[in-house]
Amino acid sequence: MIIAIDGPAASGKGTLAKRIADLWRLPCLDTGLLYRAVARDVAVAGFRLDDTWAALAVARSIDPASLCDPELRTPRVGDGASLVARIPQVRAALLDYQRQFAAQTGGAVLDGRDIGTVVCPGADAKIYVTARADVRARRRYNEYVARSEPVTYEAILADIQKRDERDASRDSAPMRPAADADLLDTTDLDIEAAFDAAVGLIKRKIGQ
Ligand code: CDP
Repeated sequence: MIIAIDGPAASGKGTLAKRIADLWRLPCLDTGLLYRAVARDVAVAGFRLDDTWAALAVARSIDPASLCDPELRTPRVGDGASLVARIPQVRAALLDYQRQFAAQTGGAVLDGRDIGTVVCPGADAKIYVTARADVRARRRYNEYVARSEPVTYEAILADIQKRDERDASRDSAPMRPAADADLLDTTDLDIEAAFDAAVGLIKRKIGQ
C-alpha cells in the first residue's frame, strides 16, 4: 500500500506521515529532506543555489545516510531547498530514488509536495494536509523554540509564506492537491485529532 501525504510548509504532514507509517508498519520517507540535503550540499560546495549543474551533480550523488543531519531542519536550509526544488533537472534526479522507495514490498508512506501528483500518482490513498498560515507558523515556531533555534514567529511566518508561494508557482511539479486527494484541514485539530481524521480517510479509500 502506498500512501501519499502532501501539503504546504509546516502543515504537520511529516508528523502525520510517521504516525501513519507506524500504524500500518510501513517505511516512511520525508522527501523534503532530499531537497534540503541538495541545498545544504550545494552551499557547502560553494555554489549558488540557482546553479543548475552544481545542484544536479549534488542531487545525483545524495547519500540517504546523510538525511538525519539536524542542520537540514533549519529555516536557512528550508529556504534553500525551495530554490533548488524549482530546478526540473534536480527534481528528475530525485525521482528514481523516491519511486524506488515507494516500490518496496508492502509499500511505503511518502510526504512532500508532489507525491500524489508526480511521484506516486497511483498511490492507494492521498491526503493533502493544510492549515491556516498563522497556525502553521505557530507550530513551527514552537518546534524551533524546543530545539533552541534562534528564531522569531514573524520570521517563520514570512518564511513559510514565501516558500508556499514559490512551491505553488513553480513550473516543475508545483505544490497542489492531486485531483483524487482527500483534503485535511488541521487548523482546529491537534495532532491526535488530525491523526484520527487521516486514518479515517485512508481506511475509507482502501476499503478497510
Ligand atoms: O517541513 P516543511 O514542510 O517546512 O518543508 P519540507 O517538506 O522539508 O520541504 C522543504 C522544501 O523542499 C519545500 O519548501 C519544497 O520547495 C521542497 N519540496 C519539494 O519541492 N517537493 C517535495 N516532494 C518535498 C519538498
